[in-house]
Amino acid sequence: MANHKTIGIIGSGQMGSGIAQVCAVAGFDVWLYDIAHEQLQKAHKNIETSLEKLAAKGKLLPEKAKSAMQHLNITTQFGDLKKCSLCIEAATEKEALKKKIFKELDELTGPETILATNTSSIPITDLAAATKRPDKIIGMHFMNPVPLMALVEVIRGKKTSDETHQKTIELTKKLGKTPVTVKDSPGFVINRILAPMLNEAVWALQEGLATKEDIDTAMKEGCHFPMGPLALADFVGLDTCLFILEVMHKDLKNDKFKPCPLLKKYVEEKKLGRKTGEGFYSYASTIVR
Ligand code: 3HC
Repeated sequence: MANHKTIGIIGSGQMGSGIAQVCAVAGFDVWLYDIAHEQLQKAHKNIETSLEKLAAKGKLLPEKAKSAMQHLNITTQFGDLKKCSLCIEAATEKEALKKKIFKELDELTGPETILATNTSSIPITDLAAATKRPDKIIGMHFMNPVPLMALVEVIRGKKTSDETHQKTIELTKKLGKTPVTVKDSPGFVINRILAPMLNEAVWALQEGLATKEDIDTAMKEGCHFPMGPLALADFVGLDTCLFILEVMHKDLKNDKFKPCPLLKKYVEEKKLGRKTGEGFYSYASTIVR
């Protein structure tokens, strides 16, 4: 059933480029779209570097890395997405922007095209309402860094059809990922649990329970986390963490999701984590993955 050949990805930031990479590795023809040509070129380079790294480590056959690059196309022309049987939107986490993209994709692509979103917290049903094909709208929430993380949350909106759901599960498996079906509720499962945990780590820092390094060491050495929560918040992006908490706080009407003032302060100061070179930690180089 999952007979896609050409996949369009909208947005070439860390998530969009990671999704494009895994789709190209799986043998799909990929069109990675962004309005900014410079950003696209950066994404193209980062994908190449990531593939080389995986090949050098023996995690990917060199010929697969090479053919993935041949399957990858970058474009600033929205019209190039017309030929796609699946589009995965991975634009900035802004509801109005995502709705606009969905409306335009609905008008551009063929009636059978499935339109997926990588949103981390916006309800799928709301995005589906911007289109005339709510049965073909679905959430595919990938984890960062996409090439290394196995999970994809698959989220059905109120009107998503069984066929769209089934095709998406099959596609996720073809990408070598593990699908988990989740109800359309703010934050889904991952961010419902992860975001308050990251927020709590910021509260611990604000209250001076320990240094940032010791908070991270505690969770790494004490709970076997691969990364400490403050380092992970920097990795995800502090603006993204704040946005997710705000959506859950507003929509679930529960103060346990209220963002910590220190997190807000970092975002106000534009210290957003790795992507800006500074967050809870400083980073020498900023690589968009
Ligand atoms: N492609 C290729 N290589 C990559 C890469 C990529 N996209 N991203 C990182 N790497 C490489 C690094 O360059 C580094 O290479 P090096 O060893 O040659 O320097 C290597 O991976 C990192 O290796 P490490 O030994 O430091 O760490 P691990 O390999 O054990 O794991 C990790 C790295 C998978 C990132 C691990 O630290 C981890 O699991 N961290 C937690 C990530 C996580 O929780 N992600 C989910 C976030 S939530 C989310 O995304 C949802 C959103 O909505 C907020």
